[in-house]
Amino acid sequence: MNSYFKLSQETVKKLAEQYDTPLLVLSMEQVEHNYAFLAEQLPGVKLYYAVKANPNEGILRKLAELGSYFDVASDGEMRLLTEMGIAPERMVYANPVKTPSGLRVAKETGVYKFTFDSESEIGKMARAIPGGSVLLRVRVDNPRALVDLNKKFGAHPDDVLHLLELARQQGLDVAGLCFHVGSQSSSSEAYVEALGICRRLFDEAQNAGFNMRILDIGGGFPIPTITENVDIVGMLQDIRELLVRDFPDTEIWAEPGRFMCGTVSNLITSVIGTQERNGNQWYFLDDGLYGTFSGVIFDHWDFELETFKSGEQIPATIAGPSCDSLDILFTDKMVAPLEIGDLILVPNCGAYTSASATVFNGFAKTPIVIWEEVRDALHLK
Ligand SMILES: Cc1ncc(COP(=O)(O)O)c(C=O)c1O
Repeated sequence: MNSYFKLSQETVKKLAEQYDTPLLVLSMEQVEHNYAFLAEQLPGVKLYYAVKANPNEGILRKLAELGSYFDVASDGEMRLLTEMGIAPERMVYANPVKTPSGLRVAKETGVYKFTFDSESEIGKMARAIPGGSVLLRVRVDNPRALVDLNKKFGAHPDDVLHLLELARQQGLDVAGLCFHVGSQSSSSEAYVEALGICRRLFDEAQNAGFNMRILDIGGGFPIPTITENVDIVGMLQDIRELLVRDFPDTEIWAEPGRFMCGTVSNLITSVIGTQERNGNQWYFLDDGLYGTFSGVIFDHWDFELETFKSGEQIPATIAGPSCDSLDILFTDKMVAPLEIGDLILVPNCGAYTSASATVFNGFAKTPIVIWEEVRDALHLK
């Protein structure tokens, strides 16, 4: 069982008094715990943290200290890590369709490991970084993932050998295969299927003379949701056993994003308005869809709202602070009746939240404090 970070009511109150709301509280101990948990459950697997999930520098620094590698998707992420002193050998540029500036920055910073899934990408990589090491991303369908990335990415297994051949002809170092089963994947099924496909493709490629030595099993590892406490230990055990059986001599990578950072943050937000419209109860919060709750749209995430209130729950519409009518977080969310000034705690909101927040309408991005620092400074528990 994996534990996660959740502030008490008393602490929420004290932090709101001290720092005002909205406020994101980020636990570095939880980052450490998540990294250690995955490293223990997937021994020998190189963990490339998917920076896109939460590029907070504190998280990146902590993971760098712990020995993590990094999955980067853009010029900006490569620059950020390079400025932090993280070596290019610790990065994979894992965006199947790379921009000209991304390839330029890869060359400048020395990043030489890439993923790709199409013929048109091969020449781009070969011209920018001659001899670069490449993993071909294979499509694995998984309708059970919360975010199905395979609609957009991944080469069909039938095309894999041809693409590897074209990459070799252009002088690239064909190192292996990768896949991503989709984000918040709630069972091991899709991994099991993907590993089977990859084993077959490894055999075919090895028979064709390729030195297939790396398999990247991507991200997708789930965190608890409101409705489901997934059996992460069981899932990782299934994956681990298959890796040992079918890929004993292969270097294995993974690209966890959500799992590493999803449980590290708590949002404290306040009720700033209440209204009854057409018999329907509305509550307005000081953080919204254009802020930390951007994950409602981009990540299809259903956030837990801890109101610390008892009493009969009613269905309510919960909206953000902007003047846009799109800024509605939930309809028919069951909550106890709320009043202006009530504090709401939102746990498990570290992934795909602040990373995609905007300053639309002039609302600043929600400030972030480090839990262990404020805990010690304010003598909190
Ligand atoms: C290439 C790649 N790797 C890793 C991740 C991280 O996935 P997750 O947060 O589900 O672990 C993503 C997410 O979009 C991705 O696109």
